[in-house]
Amino acid sequence: MTQHNPSQTTEWNLATRLVHGGRNKHAAPADGGNPTVPPIHASTTYVHESVEALDQAFSGKTSAGQPSYVYARQGNPNAYGFESAMADIEGGVGAVAFGSGMAAMHAALLAAGLTTGTKIVASQDLYGPTITLLRKLFSTIGTQLLLADFCQSEIYELLRNEEPDVIYVETVSNPLTRIVDLDAISAVAREIGAVTIVDSTFSTPYLTRPIEHGFDLVVHSATKYISGHGDSTGGVVISAKNTLLNQLRDYSNLLGAMLSPFEAHLMLRGLRTLSLRMERQCNNALEVARFLQQHPAVARVHYPGLSDYPSHELACKLMDHQQFGGLLAFELKEQSREAAFRFMNKLDLCISATSLGDVFTLVSYPPISSHRTLNATELHKMGISDGCVRLSVGIEDSKDIIQDLDQALNG
Ligand SMILES: Cc1ncc(COP(=O)(O)O)c(C=O)c1O
Repeated sequence: MTQHNPSQTTEWNLATRLVHGGRNKHAAPADGGNPTVPPIHASTTYVHESVEALDQAFSGKTSAGQPSYVYARQGNPNAYGFESAMADIEGGVGAVAFGSGMAAMHAALLAAGLTTGTKIVASQDLYGPTITLLRKLFSTIGTQLLLADFCQSEIYELLRNEEPDVIYVETVSNPLTRIVDLDAISAVAREIGAVTIVDSTFSTPYLTRPIEHGFDLVVHSATKYISGHGDSTGGVVISAKNTLLNQLRDYSNLLGAMLSPFEAHLMLRGLRTLSLRMERQCNNALEVARFLQQHPAVARVHYPGLSDYPSHELACKLMDHQQFGGLLAFELKEQSREAAFRFMNKLDLCISATSLGDVFTLVSYPPISSHRTLNATELHKMGISDGCVRLSVGIEDSKDIIQDLDQALNG
């Protein structure tokens, strides 16, 4: 039987590679037929044809250069399938999957060399727990942390003056959807020899592939758009360089933060429909943003797809398909927590819950969810007002989403 092995996937377009990535790469030809969907490998340990082969397998590769497995914490075939699909789609030399987005981020920071006596300049708009991770874990061991506004042109001079070892940004910030200029940042990083990390969870490879813009490490909370159905937790880091990839693998093993075979199976399944879901979510988000913009109860809408949005031109440069993501934030005219809670409690179709990127529309209030660990001064410095609500627009019919938002805003 001829084994179909899609090894030339880079010649295919993105949507095709999302559907076929990580498939059947290592299935041995079987007389009874091979499954088109990789089976879930639950085993924690792997037996080889000889002890010599087992010894070789500990290196992570067979003598023929294929991946080999000895113990699930060091890697499993399901995680490998997901990792190879992500590396292909993002244009990296490899990827390592983790049990959550936070675990992926932790490993990326360690792999980039962040330790005692090193310096990181990170965006002040980062996901709240990322800032807490930097403070709690890294600042306490003597890493110098500087939070800065990466949307101001002064940032390039600051980076040249500070000469950090690591630069950390998000392609699209949470919740205000601010965009950073990945090309300009990576150009300065090359000048000063800094390792660049970007959390690309919001934009996904469907819209932006940061390695094409010169970044070294791309982090995703795969719990979000990649998995897409709100039923699995995971993270992944894609590396542009082999040295960083080796570090990532070491830290995944040492921290025991790897992705389980079951979750990896769900991640790869989610990836199959990413382009369809993203296309719909981006279109829905634009319609919702336009509706909110003209609603009398709404003071301001933050969405990069709106032509009068400050970062719209940059978003057009960084995002494919003339689409701008499924996330948006808006500010109620009545700027208070009570007004935001009243609006959210009135929603029927849209679900008031944390997280994002799922097939259903999710609504959250950042000060009690993603930015819970930040105080009022820090929130206001980030521009997150008391009436700010975040929407992760789902794949429902946009008319139903809009009708639900309308009745809750009018109530
Ligand atoms: C932008 C961003 N990065 C990282 C994370 C953390 O991911 P996880 O919850 O999978 O650990 C989140 C979670 O909401 C997020 O929104």
